[in-house]
Amino acid sequence: MCGIFGYVGNRKDAGRIVVRGIKSLEYRGYDSWGVARMIDGDIFIEKNVGKIGGVNPESFSELSSIAIAHTRWATHGGVTKENAHPHISCDKKISVVHNGIIENYQELREELKNKGHTFTSETDTEIICHMIAENLKTSKDLPEAVRITCQRFEGRYGFLIINTETNELIAARTGSPLIVGRGEDETFIASDIPAFMEHTKTVNYIDDGEMVITDGKETRFYEINSGKEIDKRNVEITLDIEEAKKGEYEHFMLKEIMDQKDTIARAVNQDEEQIQTIANAIRDAQGTFLSACGTAGKVCMASEYFFSVVAEKHVNFTPASEFPIYHHFLVPESLLIVVSQSGETADVLEAMKVAKSKRAKVLAVVNSEGSTIDREADYTLLINAGPERAVASTKAATGQMAVMLLVAYALADKLNEGRAVLLETASMINDMLNPRYMEHVSGIAENIKEEENVYIIGKSWNYPMALESAIKIQEVSYVHAEGFAGGELKHGPIALIQKGTPCIALIGNDETKMDTLSNTIELKARGAHIIGVAPENNEVFDEWIKVPDAETAQAIVNIIPIQVLAYYLAIKRGKDPDMPRNLAKSVTVK
Ligand code: M6R
Repeated sequence: MCGIFGYVGNRKDAGRIVVRGIKSLEYRGYDSWGVARMIDGDIFIEKNVGKIGGVNPESFSELSSIAIAHTRWATHGGVTKENAHPHISCDKKISVVHNGIIENYQELREELKNKGHTFTSETDTEIICHMIAENLKTSKDLPEAVRITCQRFEGRYGFLIINTETNELIAARTGSPLIVGRGEDETFIASDIPAFMEHTKTVNYIDDGEMVITDGKETRFYEINSGKEIDKRNVEITLDIEEAKKGEYEHFMLKEIMDQKDTIARAVNQDEEQIQTIANAIRDAQGTFLSACGTAGKVCMASEYFFSVVAEKHVNFTPASEFPIYHHFLVPESLLIVVSQSGETADVLEAMKVAKSKRAKVLAVVNSEGSTIDREADYTLLINAGPERAVASTKAATGQMAVMLLVAYALADKLNEGRAVLLETASMINDMLNPRYMEHVSGIAENIKEEENVYIIGKSWNYPMALESAIKIQEVSYVHAEGFAGGELKHGPIALIQKGTPCIALIGNDETKMDTLSNTIELKARGAHIIGVAPENNEVFDEWIKVPDAETAQAIVNIIPIQVLAYYLAIKRGKDPDMPRNLAKSVTVK
């Protein structure tokens, strides 16, 4: 949450560079924005509420060779111009942008107020610049003041500062991502690589407890606690810049839904030995836990069924925010499997920390190579879906399910069979996502766009997909949607059904088909308008969305038309599907 980006180097349009770059981090938060530039030895700040997307980089072209920028997802303090970053010290000499939460900020704020500092915002961030200014009075130099300041913080931070005394960009990290981009005589530091991808593909990853000082030419890395200088390896990244663009599509969400024509096959393309090693680790583990958040959590729930049906193996899902409570069950022989698109989700990192404190091993299934989760896990399986920019997770979710299903097949010693099922599914998805299909689903969205409630049911792996369908519809269209296990209806939720209530039934050609059809008939008997998502039509359906018969991969194909439905519901209700209100793509706070 929140994107930060800084530049220092030999170019003279630092403001323009950071504004252009921060736009590609807008997915991390978009309620306000701000830029600080050093021009002729003074810091100039411009900021406002609203999205950086609409800001013209050309109006930041004055001579400046160092600048920082921010796009905000509000945590402390409302969405106001005053609370937008950057913030600046009382003497106007140190300016900061920050991602994370300084948990002990109230105590530090009081301390600084007592020392005469004046606060102009309600944020936790503002203490950073005041405290560095305060510590500078008794430190030998600015880097030392930054180090001493960081040692007082509890919580998570990734921040960048500029100051009027040196032409240096200083960054520090504990808990929130920061990556350095190395150009020739210029350096970029950002929360994520797309900010500087057009300038360089050579990066250094900053780890927790580390800080960076750079004047563009020379870049030095230090441990925050000891002040010891550390060496960093240059890493060449392989991200394709075109993949991070919308191309012919109006929205990233639609592009990413359509990307699923080939992302399943890409996810399946895993190293055989690696998959087998992981299958063995699961077989040998004393208890395998799955943990993730949001959509990735629903992928884990579906995986419980994959492991059960395909490999007859019990694994146990817990939402990452709840996982620490389970620490009593962890032993060094336990295995934790985490799933994440961004690889930066704070609750998932916390779950990993808990597992590691018990010396358990961690396997990560992630999309973002080089992310913190990727680097901190003992084993990683990358899903290779390419950048996912829309807040709503689509291609990452289906790619994660494909990898988890493949692992379940490997565990059952049927890796080749698993690969065949998934490649066949990939080809059926390619056929399914044609213009007529999109038009059909768009028509169903048109029919239900004024409805206030939508309910979705499923059984087995279609149950987590019912929950995931609800997330998709809620987050982009703001229609109230809820998913249920079909069998649970008559234990309460059926009371919500009235004449015409849209209900979606997710069905596959498997042993659960007749049960879900019976539940659908019960809904119909109460007046529900039934939208069936199934390989075959049925007289109980008022509308039918045909999906291929994908056997064990049915969860993957069944969720795709719901992604399409959610997208069109958002469009028809006049909402922005890429940047829904109150949300951010990468949730780096607990
Ligand atoms: O980056 P992650 O996969 O760890 O993110 C987890 C959730 O925040 C994410 O899936 C969220 O629920 C999506 N907005 C849902 O579409």
